[in-house]
Amino acid sequence: MSTNKQEWQDSTLSRVTGRFPERRDAFVTDSGLPLDTVYTPEDEVSAGVGHADAIGYPGEFPYTRGVQPNMYRGRVWTMRQYAGYATAAATNERYRYLLENGQTGLSVAFDLPTQIGYDSDHPLAEGEVGKVGVPICSLADMETLFDGIPLDKVSTSMTINATAAVLLCLYIAAGKKQGVTPDQLSGTLQNDILKEYIARGTYAYPPRPSMRLVVDVFRYCAENVPRWNTISISGYHMREAGATASQELAFTFANAIAYVQAAVDAGLPVDDFAPRLSFFFVAQNNLFEEVAKFRAARRLWANIMRDRFGAKDPRSMMLRFHTQTAGVTLTAQQPDNNVIRSTVQALAAVLGGTQSLHVNSRDEALSLPTEESAQLSLRTQQILAHESGAADVVDPLGGSWYIENLTDRLEASTLDYIQRIDQMGGAVAAIEDGFQVREIGDAAFRHQREVDSNDRVVVGVNQYVTEAPPISGLLRVDATAAAEQVERLRTLRRERDNMAVQISLARLADAARSTGANTIPLMMECVERYATLGEICDVLRQVFGEYEPVGGL
Ligand code: 3HC
Repeated sequence: MSTNKQEWQDSTLSRVTGRFPERRDAFVTDSGLPLDTVYTPEDEVSAGVGHADAIGYPGEFPYTRGVQPNMYRGRVWTMRQYAGYATAAATNERYRYLLENGQTGLSVAFDLPTQIGYDSDHPLAEGEVGKVGVPICSLADMETLFDGIPLDKVSTSMTINATAAVLLCLYIAAGKKQGVTPDQLSGTLQNDILKEYIARGTYAYPPRPSMRLVVDVFRYCAENVPRWNTISISGYHMREAGATASQELAFTFANAIAYVQAAVDAGLPVDDFAPRLSFFFVAQNNLFEEVAKFRAARRLWANIMRDRFGAKDPRSMMLRFHTQTAGVTLTAQQPDNNVIRSTVQALAAVLGGTQSLHVNSRDEALSLPTEESAQLSLRTQQILAHESGAADVVDPLGGSWYIENLTDRLEASTLDYIQRIDQMGGAVAAIEDGFQVREIGDAAFRHQREVDSNDRVVVGVNQYVTEAPPISGLLRVDATAAAEQVERLRTLRRERDNMAVQISLARLADAARSTGANTIPLMMECVERYATLGEICDVLRQVFGEYEPVGGL
């Protein structure tokens, strides 16, 4: 470029700023990174990560441009809409509907009692059965959930954390009932308990026994379920709680480092389990910051696995992730605006190289999505994939001076946070100190203050407001469903071999008390004898105790 940036600013730019001064005191990203008027080759960050070999080629270390050499030209990302309703039968119906409409992967949303380890007839489950997702108490429910859906042909994600090991066993057992062997199953367990202590809150046991269960899953799947992604280390919920983009990456990777270290300390060779680690991030409003975030994330993880853990298998260094558009940006006001927001956010995920995607629906600020709004979310993905051109070239924004500058800066700010957490003794120690919760709380406060002062525009909420009627046709939870679920559970308890159940629960308790044993095989025995989720979790609560928040959540 013949002119340098300062000369341009002093001549061409300064000629217009008298009449058109910049409309904001400062332009910053959602995470507060200052933004220049324009970016040029002069803006390659001197941090040393912006140079060409830190960008590289897709499918090659450090994977900045994508984990697969030809990405969506070879296979479009998995369209995987998160869904769970009042009963296993109703949820099965929605899964079939979504698959008939072109969905290419399943994603199970469980109700809170299932997520925290209580059966539908437990007093603490009152009012929550089938409310935010599907109630799954036993193998009978799991068989209903996947009735007519071939588990050797579809991959299933399960958003389950404290009780992840039990749901894995239930899924494997449901597969066996279909004649599908564990090695034929593919899917993902969220199984990311550490972020539950930081955000989201569906924990049950204290951190250290919970980490043991995570490692039991790693070990069991490495030996028996080779295509299963054993964990989906999530930044989504921390970002939804108010974290910045750098905090989202840093707190996620600090948790990931803790899981890898725990597995290595338990004697697992890193390349035996690391290829099956996966991640989950949000796609927020700022298109360019989000694309840069995903690119920085791939480069960060590749370097962490190679340099910190000595991984040799390239698959251990490839950051594969699912993305969900940002639930917190959905507004109850002018709900059609949510379609536009979710589309821009989904475009960021695609331009950023996601492997799997959920697009939020226009009515989700107020209720679970109707069939119609879930279909529109799927159509959004299909239009991006087949009409927008965004899937036709790998990393199309790569090489942009703006995108590379943002990628470098997000990488650098994330590394700073990771180093701070390392100095505290790692993610678990930081959680026990309440560090992440405080940092996210501060960021959330700053964000809300900007909205309240109208400094941050939310269309339809603090600007361009109209007195529109409330959205109609919302999906309502079937009030009778919970009672029917409880009745099914009582029938199951009457009809099963209760002696066999008690024997298997006692054997599980022995395994849980023995630090060297893997609890998963004993859980498998329990679920196949139709022990319930609540009964299994009660055994573990008796052995491990229950988590008491540090004044955080
Ligand atoms: N070239 C070569 N191979 C390719 C390819 C290409 N271009 N594209 C894909 N492939 C291969 C992959 O390597 C993979 O091979 P494998 O089976 O041997 O591993 C296969 O094709 C399938 O591709 P992906 O693995 O990329 O796609 P999946 O969809 O199977 O997996 C994932 C994606 C991110 C790795 C996985 O972990 C996943 O599906 N995660 C989903 C998590 C999820 O849905 N979470 C929902 C959370 S909801 C929540 O928590 C929010 C709520 O609380 C509000």
